Amino acid sequence: MAVTKTGITQLKLTNFRSYDFLDLNIGDHFCPILISGHNGAGKTNILEAISLLTAGKGLRSAKLSDVARHVGENVYPLWSISAKVASPLGTSKIGTGMVAGSERRQVRIDGKTTTKQSDLARVFRCLWLTPAQDRLFCGDPSARRRFLDRIVQTFDPNHANRLTDYNAALKEWNTLVRTGAADSTWLDALEQQLVENGIAISASRLDVVERISKYLSITDNPTFPAAEIQLTGVLEKALLSQSAVMVEDAFMGNLKTARKICAEGGNLTGPHTADFIVIHKQQNRSADLCSTGEQKALLLSIILAEMQAQMAEQGHCPLLLLDEVSAHLDEHRQHTLFEVLLSRPTQVWMTSTNSKLFADFTGLFYQFDVQESIVKTLVA
Ligand SMILES: Nc1ncnc2c1ncn2[C@@H]1O[C@H](COP(=O)(O)OP(=O)(O)OP(=O)(O)O)[C@@H](O)[C@H]1O
Ligand SMILES: [Mg+2]
Repeated sequence: MAVTKTGITQLKLTNFRSYDFLDLNIGDHFCPILISGHNGAGKTNILEAISLLTAGKGLRSAKLSDVARHVGENVYPLWSISAKVASPLGTSKIGTGMVAGSERRQVRIDGKTTTKQSDLARVFRCLWLTPAQDRLFCGDPSARRRFLDRIVQTFDPNHANRLTDYNAALKEWNTLVRTGAADSTWLDALEQQLVENGIAISASRLDVVERISKYLSITDNPTFPAAEIQLTGVLEKALLSQSAVMVEDAFMGNLKTARKICAEGGNLTGPHTADFIVIHKQQNRSADLCSTGEQKALLLSIILAEMQAQMAEQGHCPLLLLDEVSAHLDEHRQHTLFEVLLSRPTQVWMTSTNSKLFADFTGLFYQFDVQESIVKTLVA
């Protein structure tokens, strides 16, 4: 029978963080999944493992050496994560981890090794919210860009590759103009990469903001506020009123001028300096001025709108990881959120130190309890 929902049917970890070996059989439970346990039990480590089944550094932005299991002085560097995933895209076995002699994590999809992590998006997509993002609107724009770019990747798998190429070219360009070590031809080649990737990155961001905005302006549930979302980047703004070719030419011109400005200590603006602005519509207030709970509700509104857009366009949506989701949400919002999540055609993996909060959903959620990194199935 064709799968109509998205989920992980089996997850295996080896030497990953606090887990020497874990084999979780979820089967065809495409419902919300609750992992409960005390502080330090091993809940977030499971969510982080799942997040590493997508391109990038996962939900903790961790170094590869940090996720390897440390026991006292001993480190087990050859960690691995594998999962059987199912969705309307099909069923696949995917895996990632470190192999001897490699500096980068390897990715395998259905038995074949791939050099591009972004290939994972063909078979598996996921999004997450973590406690570290609870103050996203008050912190550095880079965290907001990462949040938006993660959403963009669920619509456009190539976005991750473009960001990697853009950032690599930018790093090299900055070093060369500041040290004066490069000839003009070398800089020209880097600038070509910056322009091509930069315009594509900005255009994809704009496109996704538009696609999500449709569902954010009137949310299907008043508990999660309507929001207006905007981009402030120079390229993003220019693309709203000019053709891509015109914006490309202007960005190329900026780069030539910026060679001198950056050599003298100035900075280049581009997709790497753009910001993602969110306004709470009912309050008519910028997200950074909203209360902590309102900010969390806004983040959830954006995630829920992303899911609605994906469902409308593709008939399915990414898997969702919500770490300590109930933090800062009042009881009514928690309850409403769990009800909304039950109606989504995807697994939502949630963690909590307090399983009592989910008592009304017993039998509707699949539940695991974790103690000292040993996982027991509570309610199946
Ligand atoms: N590389 C590692 N090797 C071994 N153990 C690790 C590693 N990294 C983290 N840990 C440990 O794993 C344990 C579980 O961490 P995790 O973040 O999953 O806990 P948690 O259940 O989410 O706790 P909390 O409720 O406090 O968020 C912690 O004791 C942590 O110190
Ligand atoms: Mg945790």
